[in-house]
Amino acid sequence: MFKYPKVNYIGNKEKIAKWICDQFPTDAKTLFDAFSGGCSLSYEAKYRGLEVYTNDVLQVNYHIANALIKNNHILLNAEDIKLIFSGSPFKGFMFANYSEVYFYPDECCQLDLYRENIKKLDSDEKQSLALSLMRRAMIRKMPYSRFNLNWDKIVQLRDEEYSYEKYKRKRAYHNQTFKLHFLKNLDDYNNAVFSNSKDNRAYNEDVFDLLNKVQADIIYLDPPYTGTMNNYFSFYGLVDNFIASKKTEPFKNNFTDKNSAVALFDKLFARLSNFKYWYLSFNNSSYLSKHELLYLLNKYTSDVQVMEKKHVYKITGKEKKERNTEYLFIAKNQFYQEHSTENYAAAEL
Ligand SMILES: C[S@@+](CC[C@H](N)C(=O)[O-])C[C@H]1O[C@@H](n2cnc3c(N)ncnc32)[C@H](O)[C@@H]1O
Repeated sequence: MFKYPKVNYIGNKEKIAKWICDQFPTDAKTLFDAFSGGCSLSYEAKYRGLEVYTNDVLQVNYHIANALIKNNHILLNAEDIKLIFSGSPFKGFMFANYSEVYFYPDECCQLDLYRENIKKLDSDEKQSLALSLMRRAMIRKMPYSRFNLNWDKIVQLRDEEYSYEKYKRKRAYHNQTFKLHFLKNLDDYNNAVFSNSKDNRAYNEDVFDLLNKVQADIIYLDPPYTGTMNNYFSFYGLVDNFIASKKTEPFKNNFTDKNSAVALFDKLFARLSNFKYWYLSFNNSSYLSKHELLYLLNKYTSDVQVMEKKHVYKITGKEKKERNTEYLFIAKNQFYQEHSTENYAAAEL
């Protein structure tokens, strides 16, 4: 039994991935997870034997997918770990740009060393596994597990005495080393790698650039929920900067802007002709209502139904749990015609 490791992706579908996959039609063999994030849905689909194609505009999410979905058998071994943590920390890109912005200067120097060492690992899969584990370590050290906090707040929340007085929890893990967090999660990530004997793929593009290049029986759409806390570049862009060793640009088509959301969803639904079944996740506390989404989907196919389920989201930072109704829109593309577009290879990226 393979187990999805601790990824802790904001907006993940870990708790309802089984329920969503239970709704997939039995004739479906391939799935395109077009906003794959931390890959919780893709992982469950891979486990069930579907051939899975993932995509996310953030590079860090491409690495999670490359490590856990595309990768069938390559693991990090003791030699690799020795390599990642060898040598002396130095003042590089992270030190120059993020000292006392997100981490203390000595921590930034450690990240600079680890980034260079990870590049020396001898396969893409190993590098992706290592970057996914380093992401997990970085997130674990960040209060609220996201990078849109200012430094004063970070210092305050990493102060264990303050945290204890205020929240009755020390949260000592914020002050444990990257290495410790990496090693704590290593077995779980290695053990999560498995083969389902399919040609699974991982893409790293804006969804709109990919819809006519990928073909699958099912497309699963889990976009940022407009009107909720959903700015993924602000949460995780820093990890992309760490990976690229340069400041990356916020991505467009991000579903955060209420003014353009309706037009963006319309544009998305208009381009789903390569897929026989469309699955869309959304919830009742977001900007577009169930009826608005139904109206937009119905412009492109008349066969649409909605399933509902109570889902508890943990709101990081507020220590609050919010109970929402999660919607799963299920549409059958009545104009679908099987054709022979070969999926273009992710290696061309
Ligand atoms: C709700 S999250 C997906 C969560 C995922 N299903 C999981 O279980 O972890 C939405 C994702 O959409 C990605 N995203 C936003 N705009 C995108 C775009 N234009 N193209 C591709 N991915 C995009 C974000 O980076 C984010 O990871």
